[in-house]
Amino acid sequence: MSFPNVRMRRLRRGQKLRDLVAETTLTVNDLLYPMFVVEGSGVRQPIPSMPGIDRFSVDRLVEECKAVADLGIPAVMFFGIPDKKDALGRGAYADNGIVPKALRAVRRAVPDLLLVPDVCLCEYTDHGHCGIVEKNDVHNDATLELLAKAATAYAKAGADMVAPSDMMDGRVEAIREALDEAGFEHLPIMSYAAKYASAFYGPFRDAAESAPQFGDRRSYQMDPRNGAEALREVALDIEEGADIIMVKPALPYLDILSRVREAFDLPLAAYNVSGEYAMIKAAAQQGWLDHDRAMMEALTGIKRAGADIILTYFAKEAAVLLNGGRK
Ligand code: PBG
Repeated sequence: MSFPNVRMRRLRRGQKLRDLVAETTLTVNDLLYPMFVVEGSGVRQPIPSMPGIDRFSVDRLVEECKAVADLGIPAVMFFGIPDKKDALGRGAYADNGIVPKALRAVRRAVPDLLLVPDVCLCEYTDHGHCGIVEKNDVHNDATLELLAKAATAYAKAGADMVAPSDMMDGRVEAIREALDEAGFEHLPIMSYAAKYASAFYGPFRDAAESAPQFGDRRSYQMDPRNGAEALREVALDIEEGADIIMVKPALPYLDILSRVREAFDLPLAAYNVSGEYAMIKAAAQQGWLDHDRAMMEALTGIKRAGADIILTYFAKEAAVLLNGGRK
């Protein structure tokens, strides 16, 4: 059958009909909102390269998390920005570190919200790398213990899940063992399994003050030219005990997302990163594209490619639209 019997336009006549046959539905339940926490009180500090996103002190974070939960967003991620950084990233695994403090406060005030701290050292190390540095190299195995300590500290402080983003080999296994030993065998791990060395993290590194002070992250994050390697990374993380796997960034890697979706049955997350957010914001501010339509098209594309969970700085604005435009 072909034209004139077949007319593809028949099912595009009118919104109701298009809704009826739509293959992909983005919902507020798919969204996870990443947030930045700083020390102090009364702080709500805009991040210039990420319009609409702020750094919050714990007291203001609690208020903001209430607003996020009221929009129906099921989950948030916390990134901590400590006052002091050191070579070993101690702030990442201290029991009274910024993220444990945030977790305890939000856990108490907003019991229903899923709290998913990012687990990494780069925001806490003075050199800005995601692991311990020895002889100008990021030492894989020595880093594992510290990541496991951080994950355990977050579990104790009330996290619902932990999300390691460092890209050290073997970290999912190390974290799984430490969590089980501490009695958190029920706590899921969402692993940044295929995380690429990307220019699109630029605005995040401003926000978290986590740009590497020497070199770059290409000895641990993936080469953007590789696809088959992403499938190996994902398979290894699953073997080590990951419950949810992630591809990051999202938009330049939709092919990876779709290949991972085809090959594995685990819940799949995609991180719509800071640079992807900043591009749409900047173009919209110039009047070069329609902000809301571009945002929804990008998020829908990520869902269509196979993501079950979308980590995005657009979560609040998207939720407002998905809730029918009312705040
Ligand atoms: C590392 C981490 C990064 C992001 C999330 N976790 C930055 C990096 O790897 O340099 C980037 C997120 C974004 O750009 O939105 N802890």
